[in-house]
Amino acid sequence: MGAQIIDGKAFAAKVRAQVAAHVAGLKAGHGIVPGLAVVLVGQDPASQVYVKNKGVQTIEAGMASFEHKLDAATPEAEILALVARLNADPAVHGILVQLPLPAHVDAALVINAIDPAKDVDGFHISNVGLLGTGQKALVPCTPLGCLMMLRDHHGDLSGLEAVVVGRSNIVGKPMAQLLLGDSCTVTIAHSRTADLGAVCRRADIVVAAVGRPEMIRGDWIKPGATVIDVGINRVPHPDDPAKTRLVGDCHYDSCAAVAGAITPVPGGVGPMTIACLLANTLTACCRAHGLDEPVGLTA
Ligand code: GUN
Repeated sequence: MGAQIIDGKAFAAKVRAQVAAHVAGLKAGHGIVPGLAVVLVGQDPASQVYVKNKGVQTIEAGMASFEHKLDAATPEAEILALVARLNADPAVHGILVQLPLPAHVDAALVINAIDPAKDVDGFHISNVGLLGTGQKALVPCTPLGCLMMLRDHHGDLSGLEAVVVGRSNIVGKPMAQLLLGDSCTVTIAHSRTADLGAVCRRADIVVAAVGRPEMIRGDWIKPGATVIDVGINRVPHPDDPAKTRLVGDCHYDSCAAVAGAITPVPGGVGPMTIACLLANTLTACCRAHGLDEPVGLTA
């Protein structure tokens, strides 16, 4: 009774320390400083917070941080011109264009204009194709973080039954590919899956990324299974409707009573995303210079 809590905050701190140690070695041994450029278009408050945190953590890891904040009305051509400059800049090893972009900008066009070797989000169609065909890619940060936590908890994932609930391009689909790459038997389920409870109950690993607050209940979880909750949903506080609280896509108390291990919300998957962005930037930098990649920080 009572699942082991997978502490994403502590795990992310460990990943950041590993990245920082490798970055220090690159600097001392080769005079190379990995650089991450972040492009923010507009004033979306959540995006501003993400971008600020990315900048702080990039610098804490010993990397160079380049922030480009553009007005919400910036023409698409101007954003594409900035991406082209960053592609050509040897001090920039990773480029992240913060999503969502304003409605007048074609997000796919901008993402696919990024040099795939600098696409630290892993959203470029080339990286999506490389991951899907089991080739070396830059992979999306949130699923990479989930994979690292699963490998840490289970060791070998081979032969385990994994159910990914959610089919987004950012989490669900790449998560399924990564688990397949580690020889899991993978099912992608979603909000319209018939008898989702029965599908989840088969799983040794449930990754919940469906975007619906507390949808996955304890009676959907096989006793002893590992539950990775990617959801971050702000809902009214039950004791005070003027306040809000964060919940995942899993109903924490009932799932934790049955699961073998579970990630909390907040403090589970969330902190791993930026840690993996730093890891991807380091990986991109090492590849750009033909140097050994950091061990344990890639798919
Ligand atoms: N907006 C919210 N999450 C992300 C992310 O992981 N990458 C980018 N580029 N934009 C986001």
